[in-house]
Amino acid sequence: MIISNGVKKIRKAVIPVAGLGTRFLPATKVQPKEMLTVVDKPIIQYIVEEAVQSGIEEIIFVTSANKRAIEDHFDRNFELEYRLRQKGKKTELAEMLKISDMAKFIYVRQKTPKGLGHAVLTARELIGDEPFVVIAGDDIIDSRVPAIKQLMRVYEKYEDIVLGVTKVNKKETYKYGIIDSLKIDERTAEIKKLIEKPTPSKAPSNLAVTGRYILTPEIFDFLAKQKPGAGGEIQLTDAIARYIKERVGYACLYEGDYYDCGNKLEFMKAIINFGLKRSAFKKELKKYLRQIVN
Ligand code: UTP
Repeated sequence: MIISNGVKKIRKAVIPVAGLGTRFLPATKVQPKEMLTVVDKPIIQYIVEEAVQSGIEEIIFVTSANKRAIEDHFDRNFELEYRLRQKGKKTELAEMLKISDMAKFIYVRQKTPKGLGHAVLTARELIGDEPFVVIAGDDIIDSRVPAIKQLMRVYEKYEDIVLGVTKVNKKETYKYGIIDSLKIDERTAEIKKLIEKPTPSKAPSNLAVTGRYILTPEIFDFLAKQKPGAGGEIQLTDAIARYIKERVGYACLYEGDYYDCGNKLEFMKAIINFGLKRSAFKKELKKYLRQIVN
């Protein structure tokens, strides 16, 4: 499908959820990291909602053993629906039905957790020949305009790879893919180089790639030839870095707060942030936080 001025509409999102979540053990021994709860919703639901609110129609989950709970969460639960109907819990029932109706959900297995790049490559046949979105299954962005929608606006202008970036503390560049770029405007830049996990002294900026990507199908050729990098894994960042070197790539400095929920401290911050946004808890939670701090 074409949207205005001949640009292909982005319909599909790949959400890799096949990782082991070792940073979150023991919570992730049997439970998927992506199903950990921020207030009353699993992390993965925040992510799917962002994609759907950005216009995505098809969600391709790259899953693995132990991730059944994710499939069940986005499916119907007839017994629960029956009980809620019996009890007259109409609001809860409507909310449950909405979850499975949000998008078309497709599942593909990554047989071994060989890295984020390998997980994306697993979805190749399901993407075919169209641009698509990738969202890491554990990164929540809290923003007024969904982060993916902000990236799509950049894509509509340049029709090539767009990476979502945010400013991080310079001391922490070693945790992220960091870009070297030429500023186009306040929120857009052309990427000159992408460096995976540089030490602060080697980092060309503090602009970090944080789990939001718009990619073109040409990336699959780069991923198919990608050798293992950091941690012995096929890194998505390494393949994108090669793509950018040969072609071009853009960065969108999205407006919003980023939470790496695969990290215990960031996950706790996310719970407090979203808790404070709920009118039902805001006052009491603030009072409690003031009480226990100091
Ligand atoms: P992470 O690197 O944060 O996930 O990948 P991980 O490997 O599960 O975490 P740790 O480092 O062991 O704690 C970001 C996203 O990519 C998925 C993860 O499930 C997560 O949602 N992923 C990662 C895959 O689907 N396959 C992989 O091989 C690796």
